[in-house]
Amino acid sequence: MYQVIARKYRPQSFAELIGQEHVRTTLENAIAQKRIAHGYIFSGQRGTGKTTVARILARCLNCIEGPTTKPCGKCASCLEVTAGNTVDVIEIDAASNRGINEMRELRENVRYRPARDRYKIFIVDEAHQITNEAFNALLKTLEEPPEWVVFVLCTTEVHKIPTTIASRCQQFSFRSVDFAEVVERMEWICKQEGIEADPEVLSVLAQMGEGSVRDSLSALDQAIACCGVKLNAQEVRGLLGMFSLDSLSEVTQALAAQDSRRMLDLVMELERNGRNLQHFCRELARYFRNLLVAKVAGPNTRLIAASGPEQERLAEIAAGYSEEDLTRYLQLTLDLFKDLQFSLQPRLHLEIGLLRLIQAGKLLPIEEALANLGSQGGGPAPSKPPQPRKPVPPAPATSHQPPA
Ligand SMILES: Nc1ncnc2c1ncn2[C@@H]1O[C@H](COP(=O)(O)OP(=O)(O)OP(=O)(O)O)[C@@H](O)[C@H]1O
Ligand SMILES: [Mg+2]
Ligand SMILES: [Zn+2]
Repeated sequence: MYQVIARKYRPQSFAELIGQEHVRTTLENAIAQKRIAHGYIFSGQRGTGKTTVARILARCLNCIEGPTTKPCGKCASCLEVTAGNTVDVIEIDAASNRGINEMRELRENVRYRPARDRYKIFIVDEAHQITNEAFNALLKTLEEPPEWVVFVLCTTEVHKIPTTIASRCQQFSFRSVDFAEVVERMEWICKQEGIEADPEVLSVLAQMGEGSVRDSLSALDQAIACCGVKLNAQEVRGLLGMFSLDSLSEVTQALAAQDSRRMLDLVMELERNGRNLQHFCRELARYFRNLLVAKVAGPNTRLIAASGPEQERLAEIAAGYSEEDLTRYLQLTLDLFKDLQFSLQPRLHLEIGLLRLIQAGKLLPIEEALANLGSQGGGPAPSKPPQPRKPVPPAPATSHQPPA
């Protein structure tokens, strides 16, 4: 049976996990020192490894050779955790009806020793959805836990866990995973699957996930369904509603030239190619954000989810603008994105939004305007002469002029 990539390649050991080093190290130390807590809270962005690590922890604790940081992967306990059908590792989805019932039976259930293994481990997914009644049962258990019980509460909304519970658990917050690590992982997976994917495609997929490994892997599944064994960056971008740096940079080129006509043509092109204007706007916001970051932090920063060459390109483009300009463009684009979500006339909104960018580029920063006022009124001279506004429009075509 076909299994989606995200599930097929769920890490079975700490060694396979990417990112989350802080979680890994702390848990490995705890296991090595046999200092196992009765309650853990794994919180953080979706698709970053919470359920995965909960299962790895279960294997570490219950492996026949354990507790160990390197479960054997072969004993009955290890195999059953992978398959998700062990009696002593109980996974509960707190959001489902079944989960609610299971939580109700919890107080009964924890009293019995594990059937076979060392620990009885309860992995509660979507833990923020636990009912009040179940939270109370959980609290009672955590106040006087039987020695064999371990709870792992997984949630994307940790603030919804009552403090009475949280203060009795060890908390780990899972971070979004670095672009480069996601790319590397996907490269490896593609090799296993016999899929040809160049760095450009992998970069598109990693950007799509925004730090969620699962989202990137789901995008990879989609890409394979669409392209087959050889992934094509342009097709994948079209599929996912992403845009290349080339097409986004057309906006900054039109801005640099203060060319309103070109902006309008750009929108026409998007429409003609059937591109989604909202997606374009979202990508444009991300583009300005990346330019701003490149301006502030320079190229090759982990703050930007893009390949090395793309980062250099971004830094080059950013060099033509001031930090204030880029901030303003980003703000305007975000406003535009908000408008577009409710707009019945997305094309008009996008057009006016892009034209506003050009106009905003002509505005003087407030400090400069004030300084100018000051010097006119005979007040203190500005410390710096006002700079000519960048970007300067290109010189008109010179072909008709006599050669110098
Ligand atoms: N840190 C990671 N290292 C390697 N693969 C990962 C990592 N995080 C997620 N994955 C991949 O994504 C899939 C989903 O991860 P997981 O179920 O652990 O996410 P989660 O944090 O529990 O998300 P959710 O909040 O949506 O439940 C895994 O099967 C695995 O393929
Ligand atoms: Mg999960
Ligand atoms: Zn084992």
